[in-house]
Amino acid sequence: MFLSLAGLIALSQTPAAKSSAPSTAIAVLHPTAGNKVTGTVTFAVVADGVQVHAEITGLTPGKHGFHVHEFGDCSAADASSAGAHFNPANQPHAGPDAAARHEGDMGNVEADVFSNAKLDYVDHQISLTNDAKSVIGRSVVVHAKPDDLKTQPSGDSGARIACGVIGWAKMQ
Ligand code: CU
Ligand code: ZN
Repeated sequence: MFLSLAGLIALSQTPAAKSSAPSTAIAVLHPTAGNKVTGTVTFAVVADGVQVHAEITGLTPGKHGFHVHEFGDCSAADASSAGAHFNPANQPHAGPDAAARHEGDMGNVEADVFSNAKLDYVDHQISLTNDAKSVIGRSVVVHAKPDDLKTQPSGDSGARIACGVIGWAKMQ
């Protein structure tokens, strides 16, 4: 009896798993019904936050709302299954530079005339490691319209045109 209890305690303590945890995550974007948007978004832990790097294609030229949504579920044809913006601290919708914002408010990506968008910035609110703020297992959603960074609850950015689940990336 004593031995089996000790075994259970040993199993529940896995410090090695934490120290060898990967520090880069990726979302592979797939188009929702009727769209052709694809791309990848990577998240990497850096000294002052999380480096976000997005490369997306198949967009209409101009700005498109770009967020982390609360559920890692892109199964619905319109990606409604991804839920609302990731907002663990119950803040208002805003832009990535605002002090008070949804954790998931990454602003916009902007596509050129060739339908391609690239984005590179360091986000100071999202995390890959702080359980309450971690984006792992949630989703990235790209929208049909620009995010105006102020309309509640989601910046008036319209339909969801691509969705991808955020998971750990293979170590390079
Ligand atoms: Cu969104
Ligand atoms: Zn928001």
